[in-house]
Amino acid sequence: MKEYTPRKVKKNQSLIRTLYRRAREASENAYAPYSHFCVGAALLACDGGLFTGVNVESASYGATVCAERTALVKAVSQGAREFAAIAIASRQGEAWPCGICRQMLYEFSPDMLVITGEDEEHLEVVTLSKLLPRGFRLQQ
Ligand code: THU
Repeated sequence: MKEYTPRKVKKNQSLIRTLYRRAREASENAYAPYSHFCVGAALLACDGGLFTGVNVESASYGATVCAERTALVKAVSQGAREFAAIAIASRQGEAWPCGICRQMLYEFSPDMLVITGEDEEHLEVVTLSKLLPRGFRLQQ
């Protein structure tokens, strides 16, 4: 059931803050011994499912996985396919998703909202397709 849409989330300030808070809480579990940049993400599926993720670094640096992709892979593994919003928080302030994460999120929901900011009082909310104009999609 489609309980949440990007448009509905955009109008719901308390939900936006709650998602950000969940991302911030998740960041406590970040595994970032190399960069010390601890990130948490909270991904809201359109059916109301909420999936959190953290960045998981590796001694082989290139193998590192960002918080956004951790949340996305968890969600898709559990059957979610449509997303309304993702909030991202780091203890160091705002964290916009990297290019790889933008592309992976775009695969499922180009119109989802991306929420981030310095803190709960200063959040920015932007549509993913604005962060990744003309993102790549294979014709199916
Ligand atoms: N990182 C994320 O998890 N998400 C972002 O949006 C930006 C970067 C992580 C990857 C790496 O573990 C650390 O932050 C520094 O790049």
